[in-house]
Amino acid sequence: MCMECPTNTINIGVADKDRNDIAKKLSVLLATDYMFFTKAYKYHWNVRSPFFSQLHALFETLYEAHFASVDEIAERIRTLGHEAPGTLAEFIEQSIIEETPGFNPSECFMLAELLGDLETIIQQMRKDLSTIEKSDIISGDLLVGKIKAYEKEAWFLRSHLEIVEDECEDEEEFSIEEAPKKASKKK
Ligand SMILES: [Fe+2]
Repeated sequence: MCMECPTNTINIGVADKDRNDIAKKLSVLLATDYMFFTKAYKYHWNVRSPFFSQLHALFETLYEAHFASVDEIAERIRTLGHEAPGTLAEFIEQSIIEETPGFNPSECFMLAELLGDLETIIQQMRKDLSTIEKSDIISGDLLVGKIKAYEKEAWFLRSHLEIVEDECEDEEEFSIEEAPKKASKKK
């Protein structure tokens, strides 16, 4: 037995229990963010709209940003000494947003669904931040950066939704507030 070998003990000033709790919360965020990445990618491919170029590019910006984001979250989980979930089955199981197989709605619903999902993620991160920052300011800082970035994305989605809303007048009782609910009903 090598008595001089370094051990795998994590000794970074964050208690084992706290590292475990944070890793669990970050795993849920990772799974949810991966789900959001997939949904933005799907709508990048399938959007049909008079605003096709704008929305195709907007959805590309989103999926690229979230593809990078999941890597940051996974690497933070590893830094805390835990294993990151990395299969589609784990992501589906842990995600707090749902995917919509076979559902390619109008651009109004695409924007509203992604906006609703993003706001769900932001709300969860704010909730997690209040406990995480007490034991690990670095993981807290990771969340602060993500909340800031995702709130800006939500603004972009909201602004695009306001533009395309006029194009959706033919859809029955379309409204920004109701669209996410209608989107989930159409699953
Ligand atoms: Fe593309």
